[in-house]
Amino acid sequence: MTSFSEIPDLSIEQFQRFAKLIHEKAHIHLKEHKVTLLSNRLRKRLRALQLESYDDYFKYISDEQTAQKEMVHFLEAVTTNESYFWRTTQNYEALKKNVLPELIKSFRGQKLKFWSAGCSTGEEPYNLAMELVESMKSLGHFEWELLGSDISNRVVEFARQGIYSGRKIEKVPENILRRYFRKLEDQDAYQVRDDLRQKIDFQVENLFQARHRGLHCIFCRNVMIYFNRDDQQKLVNRFYDMLVDGGYLFIGHAESLQMLDTQFTTRPTEEGVLYQKRT
Ligand SMILES: C[S@@+](CC[C@H](N)C(=O)[O-])C[C@H]1O[C@@H](n2cnc3c(N)ncnc32)[C@H](O)[C@@H]1O
Repeated sequence: MTSFSEIPDLSIEQFQRFAKLIHEKAHIHLKEHKVTLLSNRLRKRLRALQLESYDDYFKYISDEQTAQKEMVHFLEAVTTNESYFWRTTQNYEALKKNVLPELIKSFRGQKLKFWSAGCSTGEEPYNLAMELVESMKSLGHFEWELLGSDISNRVVEFARQGIYSGRKIEKVPENILRRYFRKLEDQDAYQVRDDLRQKIDFQVENLFQARHRGLHCIFCRNVMIYFNRDDQQKLVNRFYDMLVDGGYLFIGHAESLQMLDTQFTTRPTEEGVLYQKRT
């Protein structure tokens, strides 16, 4: 009987084989220093499937009979889903101060379309939705729709439930917590209000296969750091095509488009650089 904790880390060759597959499926670029992390995560899959070695697992994930079902778990094992409410609030400040007033004026009477691309467990799209509703107090009513998508089934299901606790919601201001969440009985957890949950369309989707059109804002924060430069370039070009003329792309605070060849116009603001499609 195998003791799974005794299985050593992946060899470099094994790591490279899995890394290639991860890149093919999700475009995620795993660097070699992640060997222990990947080994730990795959050990859990070996245990779940009662397989004895990484090579057996590679066969399992490559076999037509089993690959499709296991791919869901495999991708879940290799993605990093860290997220929380009120993360990099400068983005939301820029949205309210600079972006929304302009979009409302330019697209008067039209529904504004938002996409949280790589939305993980839902904090980003819900946070965005709360900011949109709040902003109407000063900007007046406007119609909006919001899509949240991620490659991982598990996180999208979590997002649909919209139940959060601990670190995930510790930064949420008290008045927002009262207005947009309800405390669950006998639990130290809060669920996002039903009407807001129903308003957001959550989908399982690979960013590199997404084909949306006519978007006014794309939030893709803390996702591109997992891709190599070529894939970042491809993705940013796709985002550009998916935006309306005048639309905006928001990226994470540790990310930049500086090294990429893009058509986005940069606009420095007090809240950071804004990337706008201007043809
Ligand atoms: C660190 S989380 C970022 C969550 C959120 N955007 C935020 O900033 O809090 C990165 C997410 O990107 C998703 N992801 C990675 N590669 C993806 C791909 N090719 N297509 C769709 N989602 C992907 C992961 O599953 C993960 O949930």
